[in-house]
Amino acid sequence: MSRSAHPAGPRHADVLPEGHYSAPPADLNTLDPKVWAQTVDRGVDGVVRVGGVDVKALAEEFGTPAYFLDETDFRARARAWRTAFGQDADVFYAGKAFLSRAVVRWLHEEGLNLDVCSGGELATALSAGMPADRIAFHGNNKSTEEIHRAVEAGVGRIVLDSFQEIVRVAHIAQELGKRQRVQIRVTVGVEAHTHEFIATAHEDQKFGIPLAGGQAAEAVRRALKLDGLELIGIHSHIGSQIFDTSGFEVAAHRVVGLLKDIRDEHGVELPEIDLGGGLGIAYTSADDPREPHEIAKALTEIVTRECEGARLRTPRISVEPGRAIVGPTAFTLYEVGTIKPLDGLRTYVSVDGGMSDNIRTALYDAEYSVALVSRTSDAEPMLARVVGKHCESGDIVVKDAFLPADLAPGDLIAVPATGAYCRSMASNYNHVLRPPVVAVKDGEARVIVRRETEEDLLRLDVG
Ligand code: LLP
Repeated sequence: MSRSAHPAGPRHADVLPEGHYSAPPADLNTLDPKVWAQTVDRGVDGVVRVGGVDVKALAEEFGTPAYFLDETDFRARARAWRTAFGQDADVFYAGKAFLSRAVVRWLHEEGLNLDVCSGGELATALSAGMPADRIAFHGNNKSTEEIHRAVEAGVGRIVLDSFQEIVRVAHIAQELGKRQRVQIRVTVGVEAHTHEFIATAHEDQKFGIPLAGGQAAEAVRRALKLDGLELIGIHSHIGSQIFDTSGFEVAAHRVVGLLKDIRDEHGVELPEIDLGGGLGIAYTSADDPREPHEIAKALTEIVTRECEGARLRTPRISVEPGRAIVGPTAFTLYEVGTIKPLDGLRTYVSVDGGMSDNIRTALYDAEYSVALVSRTSDAEPMLARVVGKHCESGDIVVKDAFLPADLAPGDLIAVPATGAYCRSMASNYNHVLRPPVVAVKDGEARVIVRRETEEDLLRLDVG
């Protein structure tokens, strides 16, 4: 999924095993700022720090595995997106990437809005004080109860995803004596160049209402007729971990085409267009993500140009980055438990977490980097596979990476760029406890999501 190049070769085998690795870096002790959070550096003692706190102290205080989130970096990225899009656009952080009450407060303070896609995310957002009118509610099968709560709370918009939902939301809004602002999510038929499970705008999938065959136009017709709904715009999300804007270009073209048809048929110019999220981040040094201001410029130009061509007023644009804000801000810290060299293949390094704290490698064939962080080493690079402690051979955290050959049990290693879709997709497989998320800023570390305990597990088990 990431674009890391293929082999140049390990030092320990004449015949290269199958793998995703590139050449070993010249110096294993150097941390590539592209994949590590902004305040991460290596102290003069060789120990890696984040927000000025070293990982040995963090491991001592909070244990491993644990996610450490650089709050300064998170706020800076959120602000960069906000600033890049300016006052004429809205940035909705996609809470599915990682959500906690602290995160909601940071977003609120930095002037971002929030996209939620379940009752649980909505509850988290509201309980942390996000004003309801800055929340967008998503999902392809929102329950009646979730819709009720969202409308009652006064969310700024509900993104409608099916014909049934158009009627459901209208009905609930009317029952509550409200007129709910809604967008209709359409599938534009774009194949984003990403893993099949995270590409969402080709037609053969569960999200949205297809533009093709006039279904989206029919959805608009129905929504415009219902008193409980105020149709404010069209929504499109084409996928995730996308590096170029050409997919957005096609999506904007097709969405604006629909806006034009709506104007021609109903005499209404819808005031908003949402282009979703999906911008890629660097998981390895081979990835080259674009900066928010470049993306904002490109997307704004595309929409403006398309609207001019269609003689439409340019609608207010919104975007929904999740990964691009939180992804690079965190790393997972693990302690090395066992080390197994397999001749001619690679060395298996087992850590104290695994697929329960990062399912992305197993699920999407995702690539990650890794570094020894509790000390430096001048040893030769060895081709390693970082694996977890689960009873499953697919329990791989980093498929192929170079670590120093003197790596030993007790060393701390860290996997960067785990801020998005790691804690939020964490599981209790094998009754392993989900790790905490610790925010670090200006020399201070504080738990924002605590580590799960065995009592937590047993409390759910009421048999
Ligand atoms: N907006 C909508 C409507 C979405 O469905 C998503 C992601 C986003 C925004 C945010 O996308 P982002 O900017 O974070 O890529 N678990 C997968 C990703 C699933 C994304 C689902 N929707 C992964 O780990 O790669």
